[in-house]
Amino acid sequence: MVRFVTSLLLASLSVSAFAAQKCNSSSQCKEEKYPCCSQYGECGTGAYCLGGCDPLASFSLDSCAPMPVCESKTYTWENLDNAVTQDKYLGNSSAADWTYSGKVKTEDGNLIMTMPAKSVGTLFANNHYVWYGKISGKFKSSRGKGVVTAFILLSDVKDEIDYEWVGADLTTVQTNYYWQGVLDWQNGGNITVDGGDTFDDWHTYEIDWTPEKVDWIVDGSVQRTLKKDDTYNETSKQYEFPQTPARLQMSLWPAGQASNAQGTIDWAGGEIDWNSEDIQDPGYYYATVGEVSVKCYDAPSDVKKTGDNAYIYTNSAAMESDISITDNSTVLASLGATGLDMDLGADKSSSSSGSASNSIPTGSGGSGGMAGDNTSSDSSSDSGTSTTDGSETSTSGFTQGTPTQDSGAAGQNERVLRGSLFGVLVALVVLVTL
Ligand SMILES: *[C@@H]1O[C@H](CO)[C@@H](O)[C@H](O)[C@H]1NC(C)=O
Ligand SMILES: *[C@@H]1O[C@H](CO)[C@@H](O)[C@H](O)[C@H]1NC(C)=O
Ligand SMILES: *[C@@H]1O[C@H](CO)[C@@H](O)[C@H](O)[C@H]1NC(C)=O
Ligand SMILES: *[C@@H]1O[C@H](CO)[C@@H](O)[C@H](O)[C@H]1NC(C)=O
Ligand SMILES: *[C@@H]1O[C@H](CO)[C@@H](O)[C@H](O)[C@H]1NC(C)=O
Ligand SMILES: *[C@@H]1O[C@H](CO)[C@@H](O)[C@H](O)[C@H]1NC(C)=O
Repeated sequence: MVRFVTSLLLASLSVSAFAAQKCNSSSQCKEEKYPCCSQYGECGTGAYCLGGCDPLASFSLDSCAPMPVCESKTYTWENLDNAVTQDKYLGNSSAADWTYSGKVKTEDGNLIMTMPAKSVGTLFANNHYVWYGKISGKFKSSRGKGVVTAFILLSDVKDEIDYEWVGADLTTVQTNYYWQGVLDWQNGGNITVDGGDTFDDWHTYEIDWTPEKVDWIVDGSVQRTLKKDDTYNETSKQYEFPQTPARLQMSLWPAGQASNAQGTIDWAGGEIDWNSEDIQDPGYYYATVGEVSVKCYDAPSDVKKTGDNAYIYTNSAAMESDISITDNSTVLASLGATGLDMDLGADKSSSSSGSASNSIPTGSGGSGGMAGDNTSSDSSSDSGTSTTDGSETSTSGFTQGTPTQDSGAAGQNERVLRGSLFGVLVALVVLVTL
């Protein structure tokens, strides 16, 4: 399951004088000023209220911004024009299909998610929610003990459907699912990937998710099926089946990092070797993503529908019947805005990107915590091809300095997360499977 690593979170707080209030579904955000509980369990505004914002852990059910509806689309990787860093996204999924953190680049029409030495890897998340549909991804996983590649659907209340590749075993892809983040050790399943290993060879991985079942399909053949009927809990009289709008997330992360729980390190096949052949050349662990596609299915026939722009939660039980489709906007006016006041800061924002510091009305580190946050030592308001720590860079091609000083054609496609507080938080948060 997707989970916080506390030690890393504490490390992130050292770069910030501001300690955000923690939140979870039994201890919601208490201040109306910082009402949104982010995917990583901290209260704030702006980006905290967008993708991953947990309505059950927030101040109120409508604190998180409404969720952009599903969009059938095929993604290829000639460039990263449709991807932005978290500090540039305010909920307009028509303007940006993806948000990401970490170092990524495009090469030969593929997306390369990287994890340089001692880094926390890459998270690449789609901004359109899927409420039943089929997602397909052509992948070459990363390799090496402790290195995990993931292709998952994750809802804001933590319903989850996973593929995960553990770099210590290149013949297997692991599958799993969760309902509302509840841990269940029985839900995992391993699929043997035939015909070459998962690092060297392309394979196509699909999740076919309907109101009745989930199929995990590898190279066109159904390898595992989960039926909703089989998830019924006689005690609670509920189907513990993933059933809320979920975002597609792709990531590469250091499960075998020494500071992680021993169980996580063991699951990942041991501690990461930060001096491995991939770290030496090309200079980072990497996973290669080819074409990714999303095909949306119809919402359940009895859904409450008053529009076609956004999904919203209407009840804190957060089951299928507690989702409506409405015409609500999904776009925040600034990084200080929240689902409770989506227009906050509109007059001060010169553009919809709202990246300037004056677009955060409260001006404090507790707000969206993005580019305008003054508690971060190296935050910057520009984006795109950008600087990175020199020690992390090799001749293999991550751009140093300005876009003109690149090291080849690929340079224009390489982007690096800037050091905003939220970026640091997001980057430091890794996905841990318990
Ligand atoms: C929820 O947060 C509270 C306050 O931070 C904490 O005491 C509690 O252990 C958390 N509960 C869960 C289930 O994580
Ligand atoms: C959706 O829009 C309606 C009407 O404008 C508003 O009353 C409601 O609070 C909005 N819901 C959310 C979750 O933002
Ligand atoms: C969202 O972005 C699209 C494309 O850039 C633009 O046409 C539209 O006006 C934007 N919508 C809002 C609400 O900002
Ligand atoms: C899948 O494989 C991993 C690694 O070999 C193992 O730890 C895990 O128990 C397996 N899971 C299942 C459900 O067989
Ligand atoms: C079924 O629901 C009950 C009550 O919510 C819970 O305690 C129990 O752990 C659930 N059982 C399973 C197998 O999830
Ligand atoms: C950061 O913001 C706080 C609160 O708004 C302010 O008191 C402080 O002077 C600011 N620090 C810098 C370096 O701008």
